[in-house]
Formats: sequence, structure tokens, C-alpha cells
Amino acid sequence: MDQRRPPALRVLDDPWARHFLSPAFRAALGTIKASGPLGEWVEAHSTGLAAYILTRHRYIDDLLVAALARGIEQVVILGAGYDTRAYRFSDALAGRPVWELDFPATSARKLEILGRLGKDLPPARVQHLQIDFRQEQVEDALFRGQFLLGRPTFFIWEGVSMYLTRDAVKATLHMLQGLGGPGSELAMDFWFLLDAPDLVAAAHRLTPNLLHVLGEPITFGIHPDDVTHFLDRLGYRANEVMTAARLEARYLDNQRSVYPADYVVHATWGS
Ligand SMILES: C[S@@+](CC[C@H](N)C(=O)[O-])C[C@H]1O[C@@H](n2cnc3c(N)ncnc32)[C@H](O)[C@@H]1O
Repeated sequence: MDQRRPPALRVLDDPWARHFLSPAFRAALGTIKASGPLGEWVEAHSTGLAAYILTRHRYIDDLLVAALARGIEQVVILGAGYDTRAYRFSDALAGRPVWELDFPATSARKLEILGRLGKDLPPARVQHLQIDFRQEQVEDALFRGQFLLGRPTFFIWEGVSMYLTRDAVKATLHMLQGLGGPGSELAMDFWFLLDAPDLVAAAHRLTPNLLHVLGEPITFGIHPDDVTHFLDRLGYRANEVMTAARLEARYLDNQRSVYPADYVVHATWGS
């Protein structure tokens, strides 16, 4: 969606994203492109989920670039999906390794599409590790991929915690501390149940039920007011909590609004 704008108006630039669209989403995007101002209106008045995903991705991009400039040595992307940072930040990574973890089916489809893109892709030192977080430990998968234990690592855990149980989220956060050395960083996002009494919040409270029907039940949430303490108890320091309002203020200058029931946290530990 963002890629259809002129480069100067994009929140982020992902020239590879369109290659991962299914035929149905390709058709939807074509319709939005063709409908001009109507497409803009539809986007501006949507639930804000697309604007959330876009601004969350850009915010984590910015964190990653800053961490690479500070000298972070490696990157781990948990539940990577169709993340293309290994290619988009090929220059900034400068040969530093990236490990991407995801379900076997998603990982295999991604590899097939990347294979087709082949020589068009910039150089990347990326390994795709197949895992079901509910059945295998992240550390076992990473060790299969010759992960370097105890080095300063940038962990990205984007768009996943809400689909896991509270115990699984806590266990993974606990484990990451043992994997990344001093100076490591984490960027992850959370869903929470809006508790305002108005109709808009009430409508947003329906989303998890809709997602359940679509086969992607939301199973974990934590309010942004509580997340700093939650992370603190697990040994993390939350540097920044990027709520919808903050993402909107930082990255969007048009009438789009960001879905209010998710937010991103940048956290550190061990330094
Ligand atoms: C909403 S997508 C987010 C993808 C990507 N991180 C992004 O933000 O664009 C969630 C990703 O987590 C992966 N995922 C969810 N549950 C998982 C599990 N139990 N084991 C492995 N991967 C999982 C999905 O396959 C999917 O790629």
C-alpha cells in the first residue's frame, strides 16, 4: 500500500513486499491504486491496522539502523514472515549475520519467492530457521544455525506475542536474555484490550473475536501502562513505549490514524 506513493511520501521503502502478496491481495491493491482519491479515503477511514503495521515496521527499522551504527553484531528476527530487512539494510548490515525464524510453511514460501528474485536481491548473510515456537525452543533453533552466543544482538519480535500464551511470551523473553550479550536490544510489539467505554473502543474489542474466527486467535495482551513493570520483572529496561498516538505523531502527516490497541516497545538489558 505504501509503495504506491511517490518515494518522498512513503513511510518506508520496501521494494520487495509486493512479491509476497497472494493473488487476492494483488487484486485488492490494484483496485485501491486504480480508485485514486477513493482509495485514499478508504485507507484513511480503515481500522488503522495497515497504518499500525507500517509505522511499527518503520519504527523498528529506525531502531535497527541506530543499533547497527552503535556496533550491534548480529540480528535475530523471530516470526520473521515476509520481513525483508536483511536485503533493505544490506549496506548498513555490511555482512553481519541475520537469523530469521518462522513456521516451516511460511519460511518455505518465502524461500521460494526469494529464489525467484535471485540476483535482483542485494547481498545478505541471512539464514532461515524453521520452527514452531510452541514445540521447539528458540535457542535450539538458533544453535542449529550457528548463532553466536553472548554477542551484542538486535532481536526483533514483531507481530507475534499476541498469538502466543503468556507463559510462552515470558519463557521466550527469559531465554533471549541468555542468548544476547551486554548491549543487546529488543524491539517487540504487544496487543492490549482497550478499556475505554466509548463505541470505538467497543468495536476494537471485537477484533480478537474476528481474528479467532479467521484462525488467528489473540491469546496474549498487556496494557501499555503495565508493560514497563512486566518487562522489568523479566530483567529488561523499557527505553520507549511507542503507542498509536506516538507512532502517528512521529510518522504520519496525513489524516490516517493508527490502530489503537497495539504498541511497540524498545527494550535493553545487560548494560
Ligand atoms: C503477523 S505475522 C508478523 C510477520 C513479521 N514479523 C512482520 O511484522 O511483518 C506473525 C508471524 O509469526 C509467525 N508465527 C506465529 N506463531 C508462530 C509459531 N508458533 N511458530 C513459528 N512462527 C510463528 C507467523 O508464521 C508469521 O510469519
